[in-house]
Amino acid sequence: YPLRDHNTFGINAIAKRYVTITSAKMLLEVNVSSELAGLPRLVLGGGSNILLTGDFPGVVFHMCMKGIDIVGDDAEMTYVRAAAGENWHQLVRWTLARGLGGLENLSLIPGSVGAAPIQNIGAYGAELKDCFHSVTVLDLESGAVSTLDKTTCAFGYRDSIFKQALRERSVILDVSFALPKQWQPNLRYAELSQEVTARGLSDPSAVEISDAVMAIRTRKLPDPAVIGNAGSFFKNPVVPAQQRHALLERYPQLVSYPQADGSYKLAAGWLIDQCGWKGGSLGAAGVYEKQALVLVNRGGASGQDILTLARKIQDDALARFGVRIEPEPVFV
Ligand code: EPU
Repeated sequence: YPLRDHNTFGINAIAKRYVTITSAKMLLEVNVSSELAGLPRLVLGGGSNILLTGDFPGVVFHMCMKGIDIVGDDAEMTYVRAAAGENWHQLVRWTLARGLGGLENLSLIPGSVGAAPIQNIGAYGAELKDCFHSVTVLDLESGAVSTLDKTTCAFGYRDSIFKQALRERSVILDVSFALPKQWQPNLRYAELSQEVTARGLSDPSAVEISDAVMAIRTRKLPDPAVIGNAGSFFKNPVVPAQQRHALLERYPQLVSYPQADGSYKLAAGWLIDQCGWKGGSLGAAGVYEKQALVLVNRGGASGQDILTLARKIQDDALARFGVRIEPEPVFV
């Protein structure tokens, strides 16, 4: 089964089997079907955060279950539950259309609702965990369905238990969000507050912030429908204060952000840019012209082509800055 249309990188890998999952019940049944016994499983949402490094010798479960509901509220919060197969951005706009703020900074992030907690999607000063309530998961080994709260999910920067202990084990069926009734705009990210100001908004609504985020993203990030990519290909590395200080002496333009624990996050895009890779190519794999953190498929690239380019960039960043930059998508 060709996967080219099921990963935003547009890599043409082949899966042995492929099943469209439209309900939790169906997944439970398919998971124990004798026909698929022993085959490795790949759970796929929007395919916007994976790199297919070759053909997949197993079965793909394509999560397509739908449904978004307001499931309750209390004095502070409105609770919304969305099925894993819903599109992330459509969920954001669905909540905004009902006067529920909280997810607006995460507008236009590609991918599905079920994939969002896996890497704790984040942008423009917000992360999924800020409005996360709980998640319903299926354990592929035991077949048990359970609810995991926020603490259990162990969210970190582009990280969660689903990338660690529960990797290849749990399937997210739906995600619940707690959206604050006393909504406040989050304009901590300088580029976003500048965009809001430039639009003449002194007291922006959640919808207006969403529109501003969409405008910034559209300007800076490639549309996967036009040019294959998986968003940021590398995480921004976190280094001790001492190392950042030493780098700053040699590179006064270094872009870095202080973290709560005293360490610093470096802009990997800046590091890669300085290595001269922005807009560069290696065969059919390339580095996006407007944002060096994004690797792109210039047409017909294989997963190995992307990997080769990624390794070269990692080597160059290490040689030049002594900093190891780690890939962000999940490799399959
Ligand atoms: N920069 C350069 N050259 C570049 C790219 C960036 O010098 O080619 C500099 C910029 O000038 C800026 C700094 O690096 O000073 C940071 O760049 P930017 O604001 O574009 O953000 P980022 O660190 O590159 C992160 C997230 C994005 C998210 C944006 C906005 C990661 C890995 N990436 O990118 O997330 O949209 O911030 O919040 O944390 C994603 O995860 O797929 C993603 C796109």
